[in-house]
Amino acid sequence: MALAQDLITPAAPASGIVPEKVRDGIDLEINGEHYRHTGDPQMPLLWFLRDVLRLTGTKYAGETGADLVLLNDKAVSAITLPMAKLADKSVTTVEGLAANDGGLHPVQQAFIDEDAIGCGYCTPGWLIAAVDLLKRKPHPGDDDLDQLPNLCRCGCQTRVRRAIKRAAAGKADQV
Ligand code: FES
Repeated sequence: MALAQDLITPAAPASGIVPEKVRDGIDLEINGEHYRHTGDPQMPLLWFLRDVLRLTGTKYAGETGADLVLLNDKAVSAITLPMAKLADKSVTTVEGLAANDGGLHPVQQAFIDEDAIGCGYCTPGWLIAAVDLLKRKPHPGDDDLDQLPNLCRCGCQTRVRRAIKRAAAGKADQV
């Protein structure tokens, strides 16, 4: 009889063990595709992008802005953003800027045209920041460019600024 009672009412877990409820998952969209994250809700988005999805364009380098992604069209740091805050949100990484047919985004083309890429480590962050800026300010001035949270350790800032202005002027397809 005592054995049957044990089956109905399981013993409490040993002290110090806290049972965790099964996670339902966090649904979000990345570059137009639907994903469900069922791991740790505190995992930074950058880890999910790089280690789970193998989207390695976004980098671990906050001081250069290379960790920027678009969250609902606004540039944010993927390092500081936990997956828990991304339910039903839409994220665009540098891999998602080009058109479905492979055509480059005008800002990407402008970076090529202005030779604004050195080693390339910071470039994804600049592209994301520029897309965000041009949405908010189609014709940014030098003050607006000064506010961007990006840094190029290869010293490409001058060419980057020219590229963003070129994209703003709609001259990305001109040589
Ligand atoms: Fe090398 Fe910017 S191109 S850090």
